[in-house]
Amino acid sequence: MIKPFAEQKFDIPDLDGISKKTIEEHLGLYAGYVKNFNAIQSELQKMMMGDNPHTLSELQRRLSFEFGGMRLHEYYFNHLEGGAKEATGEFLSKVNEQFTSIEGLKKLMKNIGLMRGPGWAILYWDKKSGQFLTSFSGEQHMGHFVTLPIILAIDVWEHAYILDQGAQGKGKYIDAFFANLNWQSAEQNFLTAQAGSAAKQ
Ligand SMILES: [Fe+2]
Repeated sequence: MIKPFAEQKFDIPDLDGISKKTIEEHLGLYAGYVKNFNAIQSELQKMMMGDNPHTLSELQRRLSFEFGGMRLHEYYFNHLEGGAKEATGEFLSKVNEQFTSIEGLKKLMKNIGLMRGPGWAILYWDKKSGQFLTSFSGEQHMGHFVTLPIILAIDVWEHAYILDQGAQGKGKYIDAFFANLNWQSAEQNFLTAQAGSAAKQ
């Protein structure tokens, strides 16, 4: 039996360029992912021991979409808690080494975020090769690097910015996201990833 997941609470301060209304609606969407994941999982548990595996195929496929929506939003809202803060230490050194500067990383992540379609611009850490990798995850369950922990996740679905910046305002929204970003959150994800063991292959 898999235990249901609990909706997390976030303390998001007033942000520049991302309104309270957007955050409220966005938190509501996040709560929906948690609820839907739990609902699908609960139905699946009833079907999984049956004799026809095809009856559960669509629910099983849908499960990682809801999980991605749940977990990626938890990264995202964590990034916005605590107000804007700079990156430091080994994380900053590795970013500077690979992308020249935080500005270089921001430019790269913005270009990934500006790609068409709903999804997420994501930075991962590959401990095995000692470098960052980046991805555009279509919707939220596709395009991930298997085994790699997430360091930074930027929501670039329209619901993240359309109220504040309009349909063509994704670039302005990504700038606003970075202006409000608590880099310490990404740094903590990096330190946790560095401390964990690299997958053996
Ligand atoms: Fe979202």
